[in-house]
Amino acid sequence: MRETAPVFHDEQTGMWQVFKYDDVHRVLSEHATFSSQRPDDDQSETGRLFAASLINTDPPRHRQLRSLVSQAFTPKAVDALAPRIAEITEELLDAFAPAGTADLVKELAYPLPVIVIAELMGIPAEDRDRFKLWSDAIVSTVTGDQGESGHALHGEMIEYFLSMIEQRRRTPGHDLISALLAAEIDGQQLTVPELLGFCALLLVAGNETTTNLIGNAVLTFTEHPGTVERLLAEPELLPHAIEEVLRYRSPVQAMYRAAAAETMLGDQSIPAGSVLIAWIGSANRDPRQFERAEEYDVDRPPFHHLAFGQGVHFCLGAPLARLEARIALQAVLARLPGISVLAEPPLERVDSTIVFGPKQLPV
Ligand code: HEM
Repeated sequence: MRETAPVFHDEQTGMWQVFKYDDVHRVLSEHATFSSQRPDDDQSETGRLFAASLINTDPPRHRQLRSLVSQAFTPKAVDALAPRIAEITEELLDAFAPAGTADLVKELAYPLPVIVIAELMGIPAEDRDRFKLWSDAIVSTVTGDQGESGHALHGEMIEYFLSMIEQRRRTPGHDLISALLAAEIDGQQLTVPELLGFCALLLVAGNETTTNLIGNAVLTFTEHPGTVERLLAEPELLPHAIEEVLRYRSPVQAMYRAAAAETMLGDQSIPAGSVLIAWIGSANRDPRQFERAEEYDVDRPPFHHLAFGQGVHFCLGAPLARLEARIALQAVLARLPGISVLAEPPLERVDSTIVFGPKQLPV
């Protein structure tokens, strides 16, 4: 598609699909032309839940909402979490069978980011099995059919967050929910739908995505002979090797926007109100931007991928995701230097066209 129809109008859905690096970069970053606001006709449960949240808001409201949580996610604030992230990683790895096999997604890549975000939000990490069901239900509604159980799970999640918000209102702590409850924008506190949107966004954004980054990294390292040995011998290479995984197997494959005004993209005229899908996964493998784009190369010279987005909505959790991935992968390599994936390719993928990663990773 990138070569033959880089800006493609899908007659069935009515959406515009965007595939080239330069075009995806433009769609993500030109927020005045390509709005993040959900169309009013999106009355689905997920649509309503996220309508008031950061990720679906344009400036100036977006800037105000983002400033309420940005302090918690600066590289400096996140670095302070490193000892706790290392401790959780070690505990999870201790539970691995010493000489047997284990599903790395279930045992490490899933629980680690969930425990970290739950602790930041001040909610009990023991409830994490429920979080997984809820966030899976949300991820599948963004792209597919929610069904009966999805509806029930959505209701359960809202009830849960409402009770957490009430608890924090009564007894504030040093957590993100308490900080959001205390926050004011122009003298106004956040409304309950805004608080719920924040909770759901942090839970989903901080969860599936980092899980898939860790899973994609283990898969990629073990698929490319010599990479594990190289990273053990040169640990300083790991952050760059992770950036190359983000490019090569992007955990978030696409983001939506709506054209605020008629505009040209490539040689296509996009009418005002059109919905666009910016394919990050395709942009990150565009040969106009990256030499040998289809290859994984730990020695690739410094580059700029779009895996965390671009512009005002650039991923708030990027420093945290990078740190979690680095600590988790360092520990996996040190403890399991002979690691290999015990499944025939192709591995089953997470059920989503947006989120990309292996469902299980038997190692
Ligand atoms: C936004 C990817 C981890 C919180 C985004 C966006 C992308 C992205 C592509 C841009 C959305 C847009 O332009 O509309 C990823 C990937 C991750 C990851 C690939 C892991 C590898 C996290 C984590 C958190 C987080 C750990 C928080 C704990 C957010 C939030 C936004 C966001 C709150 C909305 C920012 C805004 O609208 O201003 N993320 N993310 N993400 N991410 Fe992440």
